[in-house]
Amino acid sequence: MKQRKIGIIGLGAVGKNCAYALALSGLADELLLVDIKADKVAAECQDLRDCMSYCPHPVEVNVADYGDLGDCDIIVNAVGNMPLLLESMDRLDELHFNIAQVNDFVPKIMAGGFHGVFINISNPCDIITHQVAKLAGLPKGQVFGTGTGLDSSRLIALLHQQTGIAHRSITALMMGEHGASIMVPWSQVSFGSKSLANLEASGDPRFRFDHWGFRKKAEENAYLVLRGKHCTEYGICTTLLRTVELVVHDQKAIQPASMELCGEYGVTGINAGVPCIIGKNGVEEIVEYDLPESELAEFHACCNNIRKNMTMDDAVIMD
Ligand code: 2OP
Repeated sequence: MKQRKIGIIGLGAVGKNCAYALALSGLADELLLVDIKADKVAAECQDLRDCMSYCPHPVEVNVADYGDLGDCDIIVNAVGNMPLLLESMDRLDELHFNIAQVNDFVPKIMAGGFHGVFINISNPCDIITHQVAKLAGLPKGQVFGTGTGLDSSRLIALLHQQTGIAHRSITALMMGEHGASIMVPWSQVSFGSKSLANLEASGDPRFRFDHWGFRKKAEENAYLVLRGKHCTEYGICTTLLRTVELVVHDQKAIQPASMELCGEYGVTGINAGVPCIIGKNGVEEIVEYDLPESELAEFHACCNNIRKNMTMDDAVIMD
């Protein structure tokens, strides 16, 4: 029977928690850990091995190099430079560092024969995902980013807080950049099978939302966490875990992810957070919602900013 092998690059707060969550979830049979800091990655590897006696099933954990990741089913890129992010609280300030990293290691991974699914977490998520996809040259959909999947989870948590409706009964997402240029397509929000428009019209105060305030709060909650604990980890790691689950079990569920747009929503040549059907081949389809004109214009403004941000580093591959 095939063993599931997952590689994780970058064992900082995000990468190590992804490794731990994957180990506990039973989604992986083998984890390969890669980091430029030899002592750190050896320590994380040992700590994970130390928890195997009590895990649902034993996972083989090893330190690896980029060239060893060729036969992984999934690779997760979690490299980053937290001091840069903490200094400015702007994900774009990690661009130079993370572009240099992926420019270095993606060719090494591809030389090892990798042909699986590559999930990028590193920030700025949309630009780094685009770069990884260009460097990897894998079939479209096999490279995508967590993107606004995390922001959507933050938004749903806020909607739950106000309404008391269970998270799983709320359909809502954020689109655009995993960053400042993000928007909420309120026309797509529903509770169970009742549309928000319908509920608003009913006059029930639980469903009266300050649209701008909610969008801002969903964004700000990342900074609240960063200021208080100097990293964000559980939100992003659970987003990653859910994403890996969709791939491993070929669930074909709709979840927002950072994906290259080739005409969808009238946009081409950039990655942005959009609803995607995710299954064993990665993103198998971008779902095109019928957005009203004002929301489509808002999404286009987000995409224009992503395109502009891509020019901040000459090493970014433009179409
Ligand atoms: C997050 O939103 C900082 O991108 C990271 O949690």
